[in-house]
Amino acid sequence: MKPIIAPSILAADFSRLGNEVEEVLDAGADVIHFDVMDNHYVPNLSFGPVVLDSLKTRFPDTEFDVHLMVKPVEGMIDAFLDSGASYISIHPEATNHVHAALHRIRNGGARAGIVLNPSTSVNVVDELHGNFDLVLVMSVNPGFGGQKFIPETFRKLAKARTILDAHGLDTRLAVDGGVSLENIREAWQSGADFFVAGSSIFSSGNYKTVIDKMRLELS
Ligand code: DX5
Ligand code: ZN
Repeated sequence: MKPIIAPSILAADFSRLGNEVEEVLDAGADVIHFDVMDNHYVPNLSFGPVVLDSLKTRFPDTEFDVHLMVKPVEGMIDAFLDSGASYISIHPEATNHVHAALHRIRNGGARAGIVLNPSTSVNVVDELHGNFDLVLVMSVNPGFGGQKFIPETFRKLAKARTILDAHGLDTRLAVDGGVSLENIREAWQSGADFFVAGSSIFSSGNYKTVIDKMRLELS
């Protein structure tokens, strides 16, 4: 499957958020990653559904990948379905009813994702297979952009891909946190096909140059 590059707008300049989204789309982004933090599940606060409403109004055809780092998740699932999210991903630690939450997302018309923290067992992929459309493997602890990629992630990606293959699933496997030109190729070789990148894109002088170089690493 064609690799997906998803810039995380957590690293964008919020004073000109719409233009930042336009610029990364022009630079070749496939999907926009949208990190939602609640200062409860993670110790940081970002943005919520009204921000997605505005962005969807300006970019109606763009797919937004909503990464929920909130607890509880249920109310925010409904809100982001209403706002037009294409993907909604949840952390299993953030709800008592992961299976039901995944179905709530799918029944609402979005693709459902399951997120694995560095400490979350990859067995959850096996346990819940068939109930999600995306596995998002965190390569940092959730809560902040600009952290260093945890190298053990490569092994976890490979394990997750093996489990998906064993079930005959071509589910998207995303990697999120510290993704850069230094590690994107190894993440891809380990089984990832969906790459979330915040600071490595938005801190660069030229978004297109970085995204082009990322694609070259994936070819
Ligand atoms: C971390 C977020 C990531 C983060 C990625 O909690 O889920 O999506 O914004 O940003 P970088 O690429 O800067 O690590
Ligand atoms: Zn994220």
